[in-house]
Amino acid sequence: MAKSKSVFVCQECGYESSKWLGKCPACDQWNTFVEQIQEVRSRSTQPAAGNAKVFNINDIQLEEEERYSTGIKEMDRVLGGGIVRGSLILVGGDPGIGKSTLLLQVCERLQMNGKVLYVSGEESVKQIKLRADRLGIKNGRLLMVSETNFRAIEGIIDREKPEVVIIDSIQTVFDDELTSAPGSVSQVREVTGGLLRIGKGNNITIIIVGHVTKEGAIAGPRVLEHMVDTVLYFEGERHLSYRVLRAVKNRFGSTNEIGIFEMRDIGLVEVQNPSMTMLSGRPVNVPGSVVIASVEGTRPMLIEIQALVCATSFGMPRRMATGVDYNRVTLLMAVLEKRVGMQLHNYDAYINVVGGLKIDEPACDLGITASIASSYRDSAVDANTVLIGEVGLTGEVRAVSQIEKRLMEAYRIGFKSCIIPSGNMKMVKQLKSLEGMDIKGVENVHQALDLIL
Ligand code: TYD
Ligand code: MG
Repeated sequence: MAKSKSVFVCQECGYESSKWLGKCPACDQWNTFVEQIQEVRSRSTQPAAGNAKVFNINDIQLEEEERYSTGIKEMDRVLGGGIVRGSLILVGGDPGIGKSTLLLQVCERLQMNGKVLYVSGEESVKQIKLRADRLGIKNGRLLMVSETNFRAIEGIIDREKPEVVIIDSIQTVFDDELTSAPGSVSQVREVTGGLLRIGKGNNITIIIVGHVTKEGAIAGPRVLEHMVDTVLYFEGERHLSYRVLRAVKNRFGSTNEIGIFEMRDIGLVEVQNPSMTMLSGRPVNVPGSVVIASVEGTRPMLIEIQALVCATSFGMPRRMATGVDYNRVTLLMAVLEKRVGMQLHNYDAYINVVGGLKIDEPACDLGITASIASSYRDSAVDANTVLIGEVGLTGEVRAVSQIEKRLMEAYRIGFKSCIIPSGNMKMVKQLKSLEGMDIKGVENVHQALDLIL
């Protein structure tokens, strides 16, 4: 049998060393050594037999993959219609954002008949029981264990034969063949590799929880993204109650769907009508507040954007963007300055997407631009108007995708007027279902501001 030993490998150039080094002697990079288990074998010069069957692409038979619902609609949507049996799913997010809560709720509602094994390395079974009681979880097929040794977990899975295993969290589990500490890149990678083997070998679905560390990439879920089938991120502002579940990788579905939850005292509650929720409590006819229509995956959503522009008291104006890309905001302010003639260089600007959401769609540009202009001129945009459009560097308003969906959502929520790119007008004219809605097309930012301010 092949003997295994551990080696330290430089992640930059592949240099191997038997002990950890701060600086790589080959490429001179610092802190690049990661421990890995290496099988020592004598290399044979003969090619291996290659037993895997080779298929002609036309002869491969496809069968629908077996999926089961998580019992939580928002989560099913993000997964592309439920969990695929035997898949390896990573749920990442900041500590305390609600990953354990979400997965406990999934354990309760999972629509399948096998056992679910919840392995916690962070809490004792009693602590989990306390939380489960609060969430009203009584599923008789749910097994709990508090364990951090990977070999022991492997043994438990082998003994109990669950259909779904939840590992909470990957940073607490360690393989005792490695000397590095739990949570280090080598441990996290090795354990995930082991889980992948167990899952694929026995057709067990494995859900891994991974905390995102402060530094972001190092030892966080990022290093595992390529190994797993699906990567979900659970995000939100910790002091706000909304949480967004987002797929950043999905081998079994699209990656732009999001699910929206609210954290309450009874656990996470699905938000069925996000537009209504996001707009509730919105200030009416106040300068700086604007409503946009964004599309996340297949779902349109109306969101409020707020801007506050005020004279700067220091030499350097301050700019702050929450929920939108900072650089995008700077760019749009430059467009306002150059193309519309607003003297923004003497002004601080603060932009906020209400509800703790993050938007990165160019279709929101016009709304962001309008909110800044509205605050600068201290003139309110009509509360019944939705703004849609991408803004280019010359101040032109460019056509956006899925315009019908955005308009239909605005109509459904009861908005009376919309400003959209003139490039989208032709298509809109053919829509009969938007009766009574005042839709105006604009060529550039100047025109849009003339209409609304
Ligand atoms: P948790 O699921 O432990 O986060 P994670 O596993 O991502 O670290 O969630 C922790 C927070 O959620 C905690 O600060 C309290 C809050 N919470 C509620 O508000 N309501 C609830 O019903 C539960 C269970 C938790
Ligand atoms: Mg947790």
